[in-house]
Amino acid sequence: MLANKSILLVIAGGIAAYKSLDLIRRLRERGARVRCVLTGAAQHFVTPLSVGALTGEKVFTDLFSLTDEQEMGHIQLSRAADLLVVAPATADIMARMAQGRADDLATTVLLATDKPVLIAPAMNVRMWNHKATQRNLAQLRADGVRVVGPNDGDMACGEYGPGRMSEPLEIVAAIEAFFAGGPLQGKHAIVTSGPTHEPIDPVRYIANRSSGKQGHAIAGALAALGARVTLVTGPTSVADPVGVDVVRIETARDMLAACQKALPADIAVCAAAVADWRTEGEATQKLKKGGGPLPKLSLTENPDILHTLSARGKKRPALVVGFAAETEKIVEHAQAKLKKKGCDWIVANDVGSGTGTFGGDSNAVTLITATAADKWAKASKQAVAEKLARRIADHFSGVET
Ligand code: CTP
Repeated sequence: MLANKSILLVIAGGIAAYKSLDLIRRLRERGARVRCVLTGAAQHFVTPLSVGALTGEKVFTDLFSLTDEQEMGHIQLSRAADLLVVAPATADIMARMAQGRADDLATTVLLATDKPVLIAPAMNVRMWNHKATQRNLAQLRADGVRVVGPNDGDMACGEYGPGRMSEPLEIVAAIEAFFAGGPLQGKHAIVTSGPTHEPIDPVRYIANRSSGKQGHAIAGALAALGARVTLVTGPTSVADPVGVDVVRIETARDMLAACQKALPADIAVCAAAVADWRTEGEATQKLKKGGGPLPKLSLTENPDILHTLSARGKKRPALVVGFAAETEKIVEHAQAKLKKKGCDWIVANDVGSGTGTFGGDSNAVTLITATAADKWAKASKQAVAEKLARRIADHFSGVET
């Protein structure tokens, strides 16, 4: 519930602005007070009249409005709220925020505020993937701005990919998670998930049966306890967890680079089933049959992400958790893996045939620390994720069970 919470919603000029009308309703249903600032461009998509009718409040649009300044100056407007939300956050407003510009009322309140800011980006997939936008995003994150979304999907412009604004209820969930606080508030967690794909040629690859369900559930469970989560995932069909920053990669080398880029972090959970090997020298053209000798695949070892994160000097996350996918002597092998990788905990799971762990919805794990091996009863991957997230939170609050 958001009773007694005051939200200043900045609506920028993108087609997703129509969803912001629903967002206002959802926030008000939960008891929040919502005041809105519309950029000039936003008013091409939604009108101050509809926004005012839904908020039941005056709508602010003009930096130089004498009446508005007399009633409530822009500095006061920027500070009267408990949280500022920018939805949709277009490429343009993100660029202006990253630069610290104050060239309209929206950017001025965002610059003048002393309150936390949450943005819900929305733009065309190419604009989102553009280096400039990604640079601005990194700057905003470094400035402490929280981010929800964007989602993958069909876009109003007819293209497909990341850039679609989170749905109103996802934004509400991120806002509620912010106010709920949670024991991992202020902590940054990197979670790896899913398989990696190691190309043989442009159409073929080496992969494994990992679904990404366990890693994704852990990312969501850590976020629900208040952590800022960067989920680095290989190709999966699992939906993005709510309130998590998702970085999509294909290969083990990409996964390592994305994890290193996401540092510093307090927590790393490596749940991905990273391919141990890749082909040496990926063919640039499709390998053809042609009746000649069979192609020889020469393999080379991939970097070990868990080992690398566990070894980093000053940038080593305070708690590094690995997984051990084993088919026999589960605890013994996992204990050896804990030492070899240099991580703090290992979640050992039985992936032998017949267990249904890979791709399934449940998991039977043993949590191995330096001093104990704690066997958990078989449970859904979601329940395992929540239990692990709580153990991680307890670790940071000094409670060790
Ligand atoms: N892991 C990793 N990078 C790799 C290989 C594994 O980060 N290149 C991580 C996994 O995410 C997991 C842990 O290391 O947290 C153990 O993975 P697992 O597949 O069980 O073990 P391997 O290291 O691959 O060893 P083996 O296949 O010999 O059991």
